[in-house]
Amino acid sequence: MKDTLETLQTNTLAAIRSATTAAELEEIRIRVLGRKGELTGILRGLGGLAPEERAAVGKISNEIKADIETALGAKKTDLDGAAIGAMLAEEWIDVSLAGPASSKRPERGHLHPISQIQYEIEDIFTSMGFEILDGPEVETEYNNFEALNIPDHHPARDMQDTFWTEDGNLLRTHTSAIQVRGMATHRPPFRVIGPGRVFRYESTDASHENTFYQIEGMMVDRNISVANLIYFMKILLKEIFRREVTIRLRPGYFPFVEPGFELDIHCLICGGDGCSVCKQSGWVELLPCGLVHPNVLRYGNIDPAEWSGFAFGLGLNRLVMMRYGINDIRHFLSGDLRFLYQF
Ligand code: PHE
Repeated sequence: MKDTLETLQTNTLAAIRSATTAAELEEIRIRVLGRKGELTGILRGLGGLAPEERAAVGKISNEIKADIETALGAKKTDLDGAAIGAMLAEEWIDVSLAGPASSKRPERGHLHPISQIQYEIEDIFTSMGFEILDGPEVETEYNNFEALNIPDHHPARDMQDTFWTEDGNLLRTHTSAIQVRGMATHRPPFRVIGPGRVFRYESTDASHENTFYQIEGMMVDRNISVANLIYFMKILLKEIFRREVTIRLRPGYFPFVEPGFELDIHCLICGGDGCSVCKQSGWVELLPCGLVHPNVLRYGNIDPAEWSGFAFGLGLNRLVMMRYGINDIRHFLSGDLRFLYQF
């Protein structure tokens, strides 16, 4: 019996020594010490032995069992350590190296100057209780012309050369189409602005582009007058240019406002003395505006006897050009990075 036990011990320890994985170790443990294991069987059979023999064999068996358990534990620690070591050797990261793709940091972009000014103006108007509206660039003839008091065949349609789509829609020629959408979704009193890209079928030169940006504004309430219009326009210009600007209103014709104005500002480049930007006049035309025409309110299901309003259409390209002294509108869409990097 003693020999059997010693053989079992030797073989088991040898097997543990040559095991290379934790799973192998577990197999050995189950084979020897498991519920139906070889040593377990021997221990269980002790009851059938004579008392003196039982004590001796029991003692040896327990020693062998402890021996094997210790060997198993030690080997397990070894194998685990080796596994971690292998992982570390294979998966280490050199934190001092540069990023994977290149040794350069990715360059950070920035907002286009038109977006910058658009967001500034949105902030100014939302702080005064205006809501920002959106509209599609492909519009219906109704929203772009009809509901703005520009009927078909009216000569005023010629003021804005238009790209038509084959299905009878158009690329909106102005953000005023957003006014129409605003009246369809809002009941007075309301204040809205609508920034967006607009399109005209024009040949380009230093001050004309086929694609440019506007912000429309519309306020409808009781007893709105030109005084309200001037007040909001002055705040807008003061915030944008960060100083008091002198303005003047000239009559201007737009079918959707009555009276309609061209709002000019004292030239900020020369201070009014006359320069190339203001074409020696001292004034720069900046902001068409006026009181909403009663027909436009009617198209929007708003009773002009009870409500009145003002509207304006601010050209963002022109504004950016004034702010930075840019002399050619075509820079904006040129895609020339040397232009964009300056802002
Ligand atoms: N929509 C006009 C244009 O683009 C500008 C405008 C807007 C004029 C609102 C008056 C009131 O020319």
